[in-house]
Amino acid sequence: MSDNVKVEFGGKTSEYPVLSGTVGPDVIDIRKLYGATGAFTYDPGFTSTASCQSAITYIDGDAGVLLHRGYPIDQLAEQSSFMEVSYLLLNGELPSKDELDKFSYTISRHTMLHEQLATFYRGFRRDAHPMAIMCGVVGALSAFYHDSTDITDPKQRLIASHRLIAKIPTIAAMAFKYSVGQPFVYPKNELSYTANFLRMTFGVPAENYEVDPVIESAMDKIFILHADHEQNASTSTVRLAGSSGANPFACIAAGIACLWGPAHGGANEAALNMLREIGTPDRIPEYIARAKNKDDPFRLMGFGHRVYKNFDPRAKVLGKAATEVLDKLGINDPVLDTARELEQIALKDQYFIDKKLYPNVDFYSGVILSAIGFPTTMFTVLFALARTVGWVAQWNEMISDPEQKIGRPRQLYMGAGPRDYVPVDKR
Ligand code: SDX
Repeated sequence: MSDNVKVEFGGKTSEYPVLSGTVGPDVIDIRKLYGATGAFTYDPGFTSTASCQSAITYIDGDAGVLLHRGYPIDQLAEQSSFMEVSYLLLNGELPSKDELDKFSYTISRHTMLHEQLATFYRGFRRDAHPMAIMCGVVGALSAFYHDSTDITDPKQRLIASHRLIAKIPTIAAMAFKYSVGQPFVYPKNELSYTANFLRMTFGVPAENYEVDPVIESAMDKIFILHADHEQNASTSTVRLAGSSGANPFACIAAGIACLWGPAHGGANEAALNMLREIGTPDRIPEYIARAKNKDDPFRLMGFGHRVYKNFDPRAKVLGKAATEVLDKLGINDPVLDTARELEQIALKDQYFIDKKLYPNVDFYSGVILSAIGFPTTMFTVLFALARTVGWVAQWNEMISDPEQKIGRPRQLYMGAGPRDYVPVDKR
């Protein structure tokens, strides 16, 4: 704890404690500010606001560092697995082999969906965006798994957490199958989490599906890189929904809805569409000029970040992985050359330098996902699949936080002052 902060306001002085975390910026605890001064703080977009205490993920935006329970993301991406990172996010420590085997076994025993849920898909148009299907089906889970919706019961919270992590790949794969008119493929639990997902997505009942280890490893690494990221917009949405006592399935559905936005998780789909629209490197200057033009709403998708004012470490790992995966798969995608050229040009451009805009997690991921065989409409679904464990870990942390209460921000009111009603014949 550092010194207090004094505020002189309205002729009065009030003091507020400064709290320090393990690493990162101190916070000024202003919970008593309104009571003492009658004034609110004002921070649209929460650019300077810590909404909670958390021990799950830490980002140093200036240094381009991302830690999950203290472990650097590049080490986890290179040496760990998505199941192991999921255990780490949920439990706070890396598991022993036995703990990991038990956790993986538990998750694999929840991969099937209630059969009635399959009929939900048939209510959607075949060309429905898979994210629309994800929002609908995940929200509907609370209509099927009543025995894990009581958030005051730790056992029910644990089962709901396992169900969400286990079923989200099945739901995602079914959304893809439905969009291409192929039959759903049931989980096969002797496969790894990621291999199971790939088989449900790309396998067909008519023949055996052999998981390509190169693709499985790339997919698993992508899941690790998207698993959690502090209090981003969708995680804050999950926490806010959870703060009212809403059931976990409804909270995760709210997170999926928020992630869909192109400024957030929807950027991976938008970034590849943008790279394809640019087409060849000679057209890059035209798009850079548009991105800098205040009168043009166009932004370079996959660039910039609220927290990273240096390289997004995930983008670095994905940039390297894109070359490796395409080489191993023998794919020569000109979009990757355009992406590399765009990155080089943007990083030398004064506008991007001044505004500290670097490639983020969404800039290269689409190149790899496209090489694996996913259509762009599935990209944000994959982001949601991976982020579900982060949302679940953050939701559990929030529920167990003794300081947590229902989230209810205030406002700066700019509307009409008090006035009397005027009957319509007198207006
Ligand atoms: C994710 O928060 C997280 O952790 C999110 C995430 C996670 O893992 O959960 O990391 C995942 O959402 C990554 C971000 C994906 N989004 C995009 O790639 C979309 C393009 N990027 C932007 O829309 C933007 O950079 C944001 C939304 C990501 C961040 O916006 P901020 O922090 O609110 O910053 P801003 O919009 O105020 O921009 C600051 C300035 C502005 O110019 P000025 O008004 O100061 O003149 O930078 C400009 C912006 O116009 N700017 C860009 C730009 N991003 C910001 N200009 C051109 N192209 C861009 N991409």
